Amino acid sequence: MTDKCDIGLIGLAVMGQNLVLNMSDHGFKVAVFNRTVSKVDDFINGSAAGRTIYGAHSIEELVGMLASPRRVMLLVKAGQAVDDFIEQLIPHLDPGDIIIDGGNSNYNDTIRRTAYVESKGLLYIGTGVSGGEEGARHGPSIMPGGSPAAWPFVKPIFQAVAAKVDDGSPCCDWVGENGAGHYVKMTHNGIEYGDMQLICEAYHLMKEGLGMSNEEMHQVFAEWNEGKLDSYLIQITRDILAFKDENGEYVVDKILDTAGQKGTGKWTGISALDMGIPLTLIVEAVFARCLSALLEERKEAAQVLSGPSSTFDGDKAAFIRDLHDALYASKIMSYAQGYMLMRAAAQEYGWHLNYGGIALMWRGGCIIRSVFLGKIKEAFDKNPDLNNLLLDDYFKAEVEAAQAAWRRVIAKAVELGIPVPAMSSALAFFDGYRRGRLPQNLLQAQRDYFGAHTYERVDRPRGEFFHTDWIGSGAAAISSTYTA
Ligand code: 6PG
Repeated sequence: MTDKCDIGLIGLAVMGQNLVLNMSDHGFKVAVFNRTVSKVDDFINGSAAGRTIYGAHSIEELVGMLASPRRVMLLVKAGQAVDDFIEQLIPHLDPGDIIIDGGNSNYNDTIRRTAYVESKGLLYIGTGVSGGEEGARHGPSIMPGGSPAAWPFVKPIFQAVAAKVDDGSPCCDWVGENGAGHYVKMTHNGIEYGDMQLICEAYHLMKEGLGMSNEEMHQVFAEWNEGKLDSYLIQITRDILAFKDENGEYVVDKILDTAGQKGTGKWTGISALDMGIPLTLIVEAVFARCLSALLEERKEAAQVLSGPSSTFDGDKAAFIRDLHDALYASKIMSYAQGYMLMRAAAQEYGWHLNYGGIALMWRGGCIIRSVFLGKIKEAFDKNPDLNNLLLDDYFKAEVEAAQAAWRRVIAKAVELGIPVPAMSSALAFFDGYRRGRLPQNLLQAQRDYFGAHTYERVDRPRGEFFHTDWIGSGAAAISSTYTA
């Protein structure tokens, strides 16, 4: 090695290796280190052989190989490992050097780490990287946040290796200060949970209700992938449904129906609850995974609890067309809710999020990439201050067009006893959001009745609170105002 390296990367699991190979494809010189040091030599002598990739056998050696300001990227398991490497790196770095965490870290950790690393005179970036192993190798979506001063030094590398959309724009741009990048990645993952659950509900209705074969469902997803639902997740569902093992049997039918989860969907739900945002669809998607995980309990319940016949006896082709629209309308609700969440977080944490820019970052490379995200980008291009996606003319018209079919699908699913928690909560959200008056006047009365919690009145200005003596006790005491 003659010149110093452009960037150092710690963590040579598949994602790390693929990202390094991607960087070297784009002409960058990369120094690599891994806690299990033998992995460094295996990689250097294996897939990295003959490339601009150089191995280090200690943190100190790695840091010594880097050009200034040094950029060191961690692709290690989220949690303690990130803190441990930060501690090991700090003594070897100089002011202005940059530590980058590319794992699925919790945004609260990233907020804390940014402040800590900056207090040492260094710069910090916490970045979402989406797209799985293939994305890392050939173009992920990258969502960086942290110390703004670090961005100009990282931008050329990240934007070179990121996925590109049709006009060549990279699916990577600065998201915002401290935890903003990881927050946006977390929201991406929450939306990913929602998209996956919606697809599973459509699959359930087709399989159980319509009695369709895997080949028939494969055809439907193939068709759907040619239209408005065109997306990576629909595409892989199409392929999964047709995939057979060496015995010629469908693999999907052999997979246990208990979903795993690493926590990003749950974090999204927790953040929504903390900020009071009705992120109903994503939260239902998390709970659907939780319910699926209660396998033994469900098996026992199946012996004792019964429901209606799940067999559909109407016009199947018409129902599949309706199902397309139900999935599409529910997806619009999910993204509308996700954007509501990011808007609230931006206010809470003082981030200046570029909503159209986020749609562009998600348009390619990541797991939720889709044609649909192009439409979201257009909506924010038309009106950067758009309050809610549902108020955009395009999406408003799309929901109107899909609405009748969406209702038919939910009604039929309820009749057949096939659970559609994400699709139905999406519709409930829509029906609540579009109403100027909800029944919570009664709820406020109930709170005031039993706890003197007070209420506001329709005929008085907001902010004036009233209490009624509902039981004639004459009690004037009013509970102190508190809000969750
Ligand atoms: C991505 C994925 C990636 C990972 C999820 C899986 O954007 O590339 O979201 O981050 O596959 O964390 O999450 P669960 O294990 O929770 O489903």
